[in-house]
Amino acid sequence: MRPAVLVTRATFPDIADRLREHFEVDDNPSDHILSPRELAARIQGKTGVMSTGSERIDCTLLDACPGLRAVCNVGVGYNNVDVAACSARRIVVCNTPDVLTDTTADFGFALMMATARRIAESEHFLRRGDWVKTGIHDQFVGSDVHGATLGILGMGRIGQAIARRGALGFGMRVIYHNRTALPAATEAACQARYVDKATLLREADHLLLVLPYSPASHHAIGAAELAQMKPSATLTNIARGGIVDDAALAAALRQRQIAAAGLDVFEGEPAVHPALLDLPNVVLTPHIGSASLNTRRAMAALTVDNLIAALGRGPRSGRPPTPVNPVVLGAPA
Ligand code: 8YV
Repeated sequence: MRPAVLVTRATFPDIADRLREHFEVDDNPSDHILSPRELAARIQGKTGVMSTGSERIDCTLLDACPGLRAVCNVGVGYNNVDVAACSARRIVVCNTPDVLTDTTADFGFALMMATARRIAESEHFLRRGDWVKTGIHDQFVGSDVHGATLGILGMGRIGQAIARRGALGFGMRVIYHNRTALPAATEAACQARYVDKATLLREADHLLLVLPYSPASHHAIGAAELAQMKPSATLTNIARGGIVDDAALAAALRQRQIAAAGLDVFEGEPAVHPALLDLPNVVLTPHIGSASLNTRRAMAALTVDNLIAALGRGPRSGRPPTPVNPVVLGAPA
């Protein structure tokens, strides 16, 4: 009997076929989001799961699925997975770093520019047929990106890639805050300067959030932080919902405490705080930071490589390329 795996969401058929060379594959071509109960039922009898941010892999699920040995998540972020609980059960967890860095940095920059230059708001205006009424001198005036101060909260791979775009491509002054400062050579390569969080909030013309979600980063940007930003500033979140207090942000945008926001991620997504939907000065996208065809294919392929190797198959048997908890590997089952 071949081992069985679950693929929780629709994926590229040719990439999923590589799993079929090694495993019985239960997939989800209709792509509906599995409820926790359905997820637990579908994992029964399976040793691996190709998961996404749509599923919570928590203690309750793990207790219900004692046969599970590998959780391979499509995405660099894995806050949907209780890694400590997996490690305690010797379950390998893998993610998909590196393959999405530049695509996500491109998107962060694009969303920041769309926010600063009011692209969504002005497009809606045009589609409504309102262009005929327009003035010229101050219509849809936004704020410049080139030469402005770019603030980055969270300076991992994607943060650094955004810093390079800002400094080298747009002549921006780049400041960042992170749990730890980067080595001097890395700072020099992306021309970024470490500052404390208060300085970042106070000085950024465009603030980008690229930090991982954890209980420590929950509402890292709330009413108190928004109050420290410039009234002309923009805020862009491509990291995770929950890092920003969406209700506080909606209030700050309504009161023009900051100029505008660009949001790709939301607390409780796919639900979006209704107060955000009514505001003109926010650009909203449905969590598409890594969504170029090449990158989504690379993420799926890396996840498949991880799952095959984590479950002891293929040329990298026992050595998945990108484990999150490598300590589990090699431990007797
Ligand atoms: C994914 C992401 O689309 O990589 C991440 O952390 O947020 C996105 O690239 C998402 O995780 C879907 O699983």
